[in-house]
Amino acid sequence: MATKTAIGTTSIEALLKEKRKYPPPKEFAKRANVNRASAYAEAAKNPVRFWERFARELDWFKPWRKALEWKAPYAKWFIGGKLNVSYNCLDRHINTARRTKAALIWEGEPGDTRTLTYWDLYREVNRFASALKRGGVKRGDRVTIYMPMVPETAIAMLACTRIGAPHSVIFGGFAPDAIRERIHDAQSTVLLTADGGWRRGGHVPLKKNVDEALKECPDVRTVVVLKRTGQQINMQADRDIWWDDFVKEAEAYCPPEKMDAEDMLYLLYTSGSTGKPKGIQHTTGGYLTGVYATTKWVFDLHDTDVFWCTADIGWVTGHSYVVYGPLANGTTTVMYEGTPDTPDKDRFWRIIEKHGITICYTAPTAIRTFMRWGDEYPNRCDLSSLRLLGSVGEPINPEAWVWYWKVIGGGRCPVVDTWWQTETGHILITPLPGVTTLKPGSATRPFPGISADVLNDKGESVKAGYLVLTKPWPGMLRGIYRDPQRFQAQYWNRYPGVYFTGDGAKLDEEGYFWLLGRVDDVMNISGHRVSTMEVESALVDHPLVAEAAVIGRPHEIKGQAIAAFVTIKDGTTGSKELMEELKGHVTKKIGALARPDDLIFASDLPKTRSGKIMRRLLRDIAEGKALGDTTTLADPAVVARLKDQYGEEE
Ligand code: WTA
Repeated sequence: MATKTAIGTTSIEALLKEKRKYPPPKEFAKRANVNRASAYAEAAKNPVRFWERFARELDWFKPWRKALEWKAPYAKWFIGGKLNVSYNCLDRHINTARRTKAALIWEGEPGDTRTLTYWDLYREVNRFASALKRGGVKRGDRVTIYMPMVPETAIAMLACTRIGAPHSVIFGGFAPDAIRERIHDAQSTVLLTADGGWRRGGHVPLKKNVDEALKECPDVRTVVVLKRTGQQINMQADRDIWWDDFVKEAEAYCPPEKMDAEDMLYLLYTSGSTGKPKGIQHTTGGYLTGVYATTKWVFDLHDTDVFWCTADIGWVTGHSYVVYGPLANGTTTVMYEGTPDTPDKDRFWRIIEKHGITICYTAPTAIRTFMRWGDEYPNRCDLSSLRLLGSVGEPINPEAWVWYWKVIGGGRCPVVDTWWQTETGHILITPLPGVTTLKPGSATRPFPGISADVLNDKGESVKAGYLVLTKPWPGMLRGIYRDPQRFQAQYWNRYPGVYFTGDGAKLDEEGYFWLLGRVDDVMNISGHRVSTMEVESALVDHPLVAEAAVIGRPHEIKGQAIAAFVTIKDGTTGSKELMEELKGHVTKKIGALARPDDLIFASDLPKTRSGKIMRRLLRDIAEGKALGDTTTLADPAVVARLKDQYGEEE
């Protein structure tokens, strides 16, 4: 593997020297949904009209009066329009030949599988929506979902959209404290969960985590528990009810609520540059239009496709490209519960072979892991059903891109590297596989109708700087739940009226975008967003910790790894045991995804004279780079000491 740097395994310099090009294969382009480069220019002429065309392909109870109202930083799309998301994902397909088409193919980790046709899914969603209503859930109520990757999770989400109750899905890897924080912020009174889920042959203790979290959530009155693993759990009589009992008496049909285009569809918490996660708010009409359009064009959906997005439903990628995008398009979507190495390292390829998957959308971390495991695993399987590959979540290094293209795609499948965020709702920078000549490592160009730019501190367009979005798009977040100031400060203060992404980017001479990773205090660990402050708060929560500073350092497989610099209270010594205990403490507070890879005990942290921790310096230390300007440092000796220490730890 190549040198360690800011982007997985390849340096920015190497990235920019990347000259390989992959034009769309002729046969692919011929039958692609979009194969004219003019699609860009046409959309640019009138982006609002461009999005309206897609919106019209959806079913509306009432058409919109006005397509866009833009009063920065608030956009409203399809004003006055009424629709329902579950109706668009289900009802409209059951009156067509898609009625008996597989909507959802699911595979559990132990090897059990289920296939739900559009009709099956329609029935399940209706029944669960009726049950929620009976259970007292009203339009506008926030329903928290903390579940494994099973069909019921998608059913629950769709049922929420049917009755107009925004869902807040929490990734199953989060710990009780993280669950509690999100339940409190969303003011949720109903929680959907399972006894557990399968992961690497073992059980994830979902219900146990819920019990722990709910000790301090007196407002949660109903917990619906799906039996998945059969593990021993505790049921609290006045609060907990088994899923099957909850739906037993429910009516078979639940009329879909006529939602306003701007009604909230869901909340999804993500990490920002403070310790507190942000409740990103998405609304109904614009979001659905955005995910519908991008799934159709970026993944070039055809009626016979079997689409597998490997993301967990707990992240935005799972929301947009496991559930809403594919189902709105009437596509067959695939869902897998477990890890890629259970029972063996060929699990993903077995799944592709077994279900005849045609499009696979996964993350660079996974690709790099597969690469390291070796070609023998994919080579055992017949992957000839594949025709298109996708990547998302972090920058992909050209080496991994080319491996993916060659070994998984057999050199015949275009690779779409798609850039977007929880906040953007859907893909924004991406190739169109029937049009775009691909360059490994570049997400290429903004999707038609999207305006992106790269700015410097002064707000001038430059070749390398901050990635921004200069025009509203339909799926953009409509705010941070109950925190308009933070919404303004986080995204809109740097450049008035322009959305600040928090990512760095470079533009090449052909106008291709090369994403360079975050420029703020958000880390990207295996494609999971973790804020440095969240991890710091978890560390200082431990009674022996005086101070902590956390940074992301480059990591060959995970993209970034977490390095924590910790000073402990007087009289304590930094032992191996304490190190493990502190790492474990972070897992307990946030979840295993935030567990530090390195923990360095420091006698002091480098600070500016005004007392701010110099993170850049720590990053340099962790990367083993030469030290930059330390003249503002209060005590320069601190750095030398740290450097010595860090060297020892490694
Ligand atoms: C990063 C995931 C480079 C980026 C959809 C962004 C990427 C953050 C790419 C959002 C990509 C996502 N190339 N970087 N193709 N896709 N990112 O909210 O830093 O979990 O800001 O959304 O992931 O992560 P989030």
